[in-house]
Amino acid sequence: MVKAVKISEKIKKFNKVINNISGDKSLSIRWALMASQAIGKSRAYNILNSEDVNSTITSLKKLGIKIKTKNNFCEINGKGLNSFSFNNNLVINAGNSGTFARLILGTLAGSEKSIILKGDKSLSARDFKRVIKPLNLFGVKIKSKKNKLPIKLTGTRFLRPISFVEKKGSAQVKSCILLAALNTFGETVIKCKKSRNHTEKLFKHLGLPIKVLGKKNIEIIKIKGKKQYKGFDYKIPGDISSASFFIALTLLSKKSKITLVNININKSRTGILDILKMMNAKIILKNRKIYNGEPAADIIINSVENLKAVKCPSNLNSRSIDEFLIIFLICAKAKGISYFKNLDELRHKESNRLKIAVNFLKMLGIKVINKSDNLKIYGNPKLNLTKEYNIKNFKKDHRVFMMACVAALTLGGKWKIHDKDSINSSFPEFLNIIKKIGAKIN
Ligand code: S3P
Repeated sequence: MVKAVKISEKIKKFNKVINNISGDKSLSIRWALMASQAIGKSRAYNILNSEDVNSTITSLKKLGIKIKTKNNFCEINGKGLNSFSFNNNLVINAGNSGTFARLILGTLAGSEKSIILKGDKSLSARDFKRVIKPLNLFGVKIKSKKNKLPIKLTGTRFLRPISFVEKKGSAQVKSCILLAALNTFGETVIKCKKSRNHTEKLFKHLGLPIKVLGKKNIEIIKIKGKKQYKGFDYKIPGDISSASFFIALTLLSKKSKITLVNININKSRTGILDILKMMNAKIILKNRKIYNGEPAADIIINSVENLKAVKCPSNLNSRSIDEFLIIFLICAKAKGISYFKNLDELRHKESNRLKIAVNFLKMLGIKVINKSDNLKIYGNPKLNLTKEYNIKNFKKDHRVFMMACVAALTLGGKWKIHDKDSINSSFPEFLNIIKKIGAKIN
């Protein structure tokens, strides 16, 4: 099987409406987990069909949850909080999904049987101390080597509510705590740096007793446990993280326009739009609607001639965390020096994205200065590549693959980009959609 793609032509100007950006990954995984803890049937429409979501569904089935997947919906039959049924020392596999891995550990906090969670090579290199610490405070026992997967978790029915300070701005840590808190008597309080708030929105949508007290960049979240809720239907809008590759494709191409239909525009995810507006991009949001408490809209974007550099305020970091690779690529073609600060979390993704971005931009001939967690990108609006580029050894990070494709289709040169199966984690339709826009990819 061919595992690499070849691109040797820039994409021609286009004007397209894309109405099949895949469902949001964060929402798909959260819906499945919350539906598994509800009483009765839940259905999700437009759930993402990708490996990360499949790992979620397969693992929930192993935990005794009944799940049916039909053409246009997925149905989960839950039996209430902490109602998983499985044999002691069951092994489940999170594959490449950090979100599922961190969130299922919280969901399992009240299970007295032991369970072993493993993951693929990339996930097994990632840090789990961030969730082990709060889970231990709840009373959960965890065995692992160096705080990495595989992890053996033994929960307890006598979880104690906790007070926890979350300093990384990690939605996965916050959500893990919120899910564990559902199984405690009493109130759990999290003081956290702001991050994507899908779990809180879903809890509110389900009528769970959650309070979010917002200050500028810090939030206090209070959640009371032991409240059962009923099964619920859920419509999942497109994923802005997947849409961002087409936004970049348009901005880096000439005289082109794209309309991305029905994309989640939750404010905790739209940092990329704010950053691009600062860079002169004109972005229009139309047909705004609310899906189960989550805002969605069509995103319309045109190419611009005069992209300018950005000094990115670091309070936008968590709102654009999965889009930084593609934002950096856009900065490479913008006029002036772009500045980013406090990027440490980028080192802890499916690959070390900070290191990969620096090497990638240098390979394109862009001057980049990376001192500790800060990055300066010296943009070149005339950037036009002519050399050969062979992109490999990026830990099969789906977002690196897609960013490299956008670079190849807009900047010139002859490219071979390996590990095309990496897109199956989050966006299996990526290559099909980009070909429909006009990309020549072999
Ligand atoms: C996610 C949170 C983010 C993000 C990841 C998905 C989520 O990670 O990078 O792709 O769904 O909660 P962190 O919470 O670790 O920042």
